[in-house]
Amino acid sequence: MHTRASRLAPQESSIAQDHCTDSYSYGSTASKMLLNANTALLSPKILLVPYEPHHVATYNSWMQDEAILEATASERLTLDQEYQMQRNWRKDGDKLTFILCLPPANVASIPTGANLETLSPPIASEPIVANKHDVPEVMIGDINLFLSESHDELPLNDRGMLGKRRLVGELELMIARKEFQGQGYGKAAVLLFLLYVVVRREEIVQKFGEDSVLEYLAVKINQVNERSIALFTSLGFKKTKEEPNYFGEFELVLKDLDVVRVFGLLRLYGLERSRECEYVYKSE
Ligand SMILES: CC(C)(COP(=O)(O)OP(=O)(O)OC[C@H]1O[C@@H](n2cnc3c(N)ncnc32)[C@H](O)[C@@H]1OP(=O)(O)O)[C@@H](O)C(=O)NCCC(=O)NCCS
Repeated sequence: MHTRASRLAPQESSIAQDHCTDSYSYGSTASKMLLNANTALLSPKILLVPYEPHHVATYNSWMQDEAILEATASERLTLDQEYQMQRNWRKDGDKLTFILCLPPANVASIPTGANLETLSPPIASEPIVANKHDVPEVMIGDINLFLSESHDELPLNDRGMLGKRRLVGELELMIARKEFQGQGYGKAAVLLFLLYVVVRREEIVQKFGEDSVLEYLAVKINQVNERSIALFTSLGFKKTKEEPNYFGEFELVLKDLDVVRVFGLLRLYGLERSRECEYVYKSE
């Protein structure tokens, strides 16, 4: 969410305007747009929940910090603008957003063991409850994905992609609360998110049509952000060029979106008990 306002400015502001009108059409793609609307991702280290209105005030307060704005190449937004952004991001099928939270103290309901038979994360038995498990005190950051068409030359050995609409997913990550930086929360968040993306890749690209395929993931990182570069590199992302771009950023990409590899990484970092959960609202 955080880089939307600046790096994507010209394109993004027109998208925002289109979608901010009340006449925004849900049309036949409605079910495709809110893919993660009722999904939380849970591990003993971190919890990911969909970005909802009750997160906006806390999120906006984080985004008043100069260091965070600079590290994430973002613009300062008013609270109203932030609510508007939240609405847009929750509606668009080309975006996927989660708020990062500390997990509930009791994560005993998470089954153990990777589910390599079905290559899918089992659903944990107990739901994550909005306004209970994701209150401001436990919110620490966000992670999101923005899909766009890839116009890179097709690798010669990638015949499976011939005739397909190829997509790139740009990742953005932030651990906003400084006291939680450098403690593995960022890496855990990326790993859970990766699991969700590789397992659900076909649903994620649906909006772009039946012939769409997620070709690779990318992240743009300021050249001085050694921690972020170290994090993504350790998960297999590779710099596309040795020199930073005009904006002083490196682009790193991950082309190997193999689910077994992601399970391996989860195990390596002690996150094999990572699961999808139902995310529910409960009235008091
Ligand atoms: C950058 C950021 C996302 C990293 O998340 P994090 O939770 O702080 O990082 P982690 O604790 O998961 O550490 C990731 C890796 O970086 C390494 N690392 C930590 N601090 C480091 C530093 N100062 N220099 C180099 N590497 C560092 C860690 O050793 C770890 O690698 P390892 O597990 O192989 O040892 C987070 O600090 C952040 O959001 N900062 C502010 C905003 C920002 O920079 N966003 C990223 C924009 S691309």
